[in-house]
Amino acid sequence: MKLPDYNEERKRNRETEFITVNPTINQEYLGKKYFIRTYGCQMNVHDSEEIAGILENLGFIETDSEENADIIILNTCAVRENAHDKVFGFLGRCKHIKETKNKDLLICLCGCMAQEKSVVDEIMSKHKYIDLVFGTHNIHELPNILMNLEPGLNIEVKSNEDNVYEVGENFKRDSKISAWVNIMYGCDKFCTYCIVPYTRGKERSRKSSDILKEVRKLKELGYKEVTLLGQNVNAYGRDREDEISFAELLEEVAKIGIERVRFVTSHPWNFTDEMIDTIAKYDNIMPYIHLPLQSGSDRILKLMGRRYTQEEYLELFKKIKSKVKNAAITTDIIVGFPNETEEDFEETLKVVNECKYDGAFTFIYSPREGTPAAKMQDNIIKEVKEERLQRLNKLVNEYSNMNNKKLLDKTVDVLITGVSEKDPNKLCGYTDTFKLVNVSSGKRTIGEIIKVKITDAKSFSLDGIAE
Ligand code: 5AD
Ligand code: SF4
Repeated sequence: MKLPDYNEERKRNRETEFITVNPTINQEYLGKKYFIRTYGCQMNVHDSEEIAGILENLGFIETDSEENADIIILNTCAVRENAHDKVFGFLGRCKHIKETKNKDLLICLCGCMAQEKSVVDEIMSKHKYIDLVFGTHNIHELPNILMNLEPGLNIEVKSNEDNVYEVGENFKRDSKISAWVNIMYGCDKFCTYCIVPYTRGKERSRKSSDILKEVRKLKELGYKEVTLLGQNVNAYGRDREDEISFAELLEEVAKIGIERVRFVTSHPWNFTDEMIDTIAKYDNIMPYIHLPLQSGSDRILKLMGRRYTQEEYLELFKKIKSKVKNAAITTDIIVGFPNETEEDFEETLKVVNECKYDGAFTFIYSPREGTPAAKMQDNIIKEVKEERLQRLNKLVNEYSNMNNKKLLDKTVDVLITGVSEKDPNKLCGYTDTFKLVNVSSGKRTIGEIIKVKITDAKSFSLDGIAE
């Protein structure tokens, strides 16, 4: 058993090792079925692709029904409290299946919640029907962990793993059109509200040579889009003396010639001019930037440990808008951080009014145990938090609607990714600025970039007709 340890997770002093993993078929698992449910960010989605790849290399096959599974994996998120309830709700369902249908069912919980001490304590005392808890740093050990499972609850959660694992082609990617590519792991920013530096460990960059090899391979396989992933991509390469910068990496990726290159997420701190120039220079680097604001108030930004002021943020925002043609910018905002006054909140609204974002993910602050903010008194009452969120959402939606309306009657390039969820007779896809479009088309053009004339614009999507 290895339990999470917050003191270990804070440490940042060990050397990174690069390790290649290559799981192989195990007769014991041949034909057994796995089911994965994923919560949270793109990083988790991509981790699930990796877990699926490992399981398939071991001999498992995928099922889309938890009822038929031999092993269920819940890949969880710890960023906000509400994810917790959803996960335990689904675990209750898994328990029922195990008790009534399949007593040999293996129930596994992994991802960021597995790195939380309080969650592991809760599982040990109340959820002993779970077979395995493994952490974000233990994914690559899964073949070994599964081989050595003991009866009852097994817990394998490393704290602060420093290594970078190469899994080569062992991903089972969800899409044949658009692929995630990890460029770095972990985060060293330690924003005071955020659990990620504890659940995902220190910043470690992959070797640029390995990243470029992966992107070249994806191009050969016919992928149209890659999204470079990191908690804070601007920090790419800064943990290693011999590495190139993020701007240089982005340029090298663009030169490979894949049609669309994206990246998430950038911290406004250390967003260099070189990065902006590179984005502006290459047509295949998409003019879409997610630039989390979190708060517009200098006082709250300081309490959050964000390392920029409102003025610095706005200066960066304007620089990006002026240099990158037609750039769309989205953001993340938290309301109700400890001690946030009405005046602080109004500063946030002021920034939203200036930036007129294309979209924003908005959140009510939730204290995460073990973070510095969790020691501050969570002193904004629920009604006030909810009222601020509503006011903010109203404003944010007005601006996304306004920005979307600017595209009315225009013809835009859309990468068609599948069939529309709203209407099975339509296709759907994304503009270069990452706006979702539902497309009427006589032809099946999934995987192609096509010209679409925009006929209707709402806050969260556009409608259009293929030309
Ligand atoms: N409470 C509320 N929102 C949070 N986020 C991160 N931590 C918290 C928290 N404790 C939000 C931030 C971040 C996004 C991924 O989640 O806005 O950018
Ligand atoms: Fe969390 Fe801040 Fe790191 Fe983003 S930059 S993952 S908000 S600590």
